[in-house]
Amino acid sequence: MKGIVLAGGAGTRLYPLTIAVSKQLLPVYDKPMIYYPISVLMLAGIREILIITTPEDQHLFKKLLGDGKTFGCELQYEVQHEPNGLAEAFIIGEKFIGKDKVALILGDNIFYGNGLSKLLQSKTDINGGAIFAYPVRDPERFGVVTFDENHKATSIVEKPKNPASNYAVPGLYFYDNVVIEIAKSIAPSARGEKEITAINQAYLSKGTLDVVVMSRGMSWFDTGTVDALDDATEFIRVLQRNQSTMISCLEEIAYKMSWISYEALKESAHRYGKGNYASYIKTL
Ligand code: G1P
Repeated sequence: MKGIVLAGGAGTRLYPLTIAVSKQLLPVYDKPMIYYPISVLMLAGIREILIITTPEDQHLFKKLLGDGKTFGCELQYEVQHEPNGLAEAFIIGEKFIGKDKVALILGDNIFYGNGLSKLLQSKTDINGGAIFAYPVRDPERFGVVTFDENHKATSIVEKPKNPASNYAVPGLYFYDNVVIEIAKSIAPSARGEKEITAINQAYLSKGTLDVVVMSRGMSWFDTGTVDALDDATEFIRVLQRNQSTMISCLEEIAYKMSWISYEALKESAHRYGKGNYASYIKTL
């Protein structure tokens, strides 16, 4: 399975923070936001990753992440010229995906929790699609999924004014190769975007969409607003200060997956200079 991180968009809800800097490069406590979604794909066992950015920001992501070898991945880059919607990722990434299955994660989504790797790894051989549902207080900000009494998904609606449930769909999606054709066939929504929700509706109506409710031990943040970004930073800060482990240290994941050697791990500590991130790698 291949992976895509969608890190485009203008981030206007975070202005003035994102006038000059891409949202996905903003700090979430001690690392750039994009480290978190990359770590999720890595925990799923995905090493071939496409980073989609705006044309203006691509060079900054390349400066930060390079070809991904230092954390055991193979990164490629593409641009999304206009904010034409999340589903366009599969059209932009068509060549990269080839005949494989693909996971998409939004560059501003953070996941953390017990059993996450196992859950992710159980979806990488998917036929059809697999998405998640997460109970939130403000479902109108998200794609919203409803269930029948047998816990079977019945509908998915993008940002409904009057949500029929409080289950939001997080920005993490697993699909078989059919997703490319579906992405091409869906029409833009009223706001002119090819919506990821339209893709999920297509799989749902074919009866091939698996919707997994994330347990209460799982944490999910969409950092698209100033408060949500601040919450995520606080969450990471508190957890990391209480535990001796770091969340989303890419080199640690790569080392534990046996994707990089002990020598490479040591080198990366050196590259990160004198801060906490480097010190943490040294403790490994
Ligand atoms: C997007 C999707 C929405 C999903 C959300 C998760 O919304 O359109 O369905 O629930 O991501 O973060 P956006 O954040 O682009 O407004």
